[in-house]
Amino acid sequence: MFQPEAMLLLVILAVLGTPAFSANDYHGTTTGTPFCTSIPEGKNLTAVRMYVRNNVIMGVQVQHEDSWGDVSGYAEGTPVVLTLSDDEHVLWVFGTYRFFIQQIVLYTSRPRDQYFGSLKGPNEFSDYPQSSDHVLKGFCGFYVRGGLRAIKFVWGSLSGTCTD
Ligand SMILES: *[C@@H]1O[C@H](CO)[C@@H](O)[C@H](O)[C@H]1NC(C)=O
Repeated sequence: MFQPEAMLLLVILAVLGTPAFSANDYHGTTTGTPFCTSIPEGKNLTAVRMYVRNNVIMGVQVQHEDSWGDVSGYAEGTPVVLTLSDDEHVLWVFGTYRFFIQQIVLYTSRPRDQYFGSLKGPNEFSDYPQSSDHVLKGFCGFYVRGGLRAIKFVWGSLSGTCTD
């Protein structure tokens, strides 16, 4: 028997449930070269640099306590940097993609936000830690010559491991 109320409830639950299911997953298309930025244990993320060219995220690099890791992807285009102050952490992210990852927005505990890429793509995603005392530690993803195709956010406890 067709039950419109039940269908509507399922649709609402599906929409509400999407972020929970997508947390810790890749956003975009997982083809190309896989990468993870440096994610050292016991060190806070202190800065994020992304290279943006023609509204595409080309590369990403992270700093943990004054030590920059390698660039994942390509250091091509305009570098955009978010420098976190002491006791400031990234707690939520938003992003968009079409063929490539086009835009990432990092929201910090201060609170404030930093945009990487200005063009909003048609596919939106957001991500946040599963545990309330977890913060952004780094990124994983996939890139091809034209830019990042997928990104995943690695969350972990303050000054701890990624899985605590
Ligand atoms: C890392 O961040 C936490 C929470 O803000 C802070 O208590 C700790 O001192 C930081 N670690 C270092 C090495 O700065």
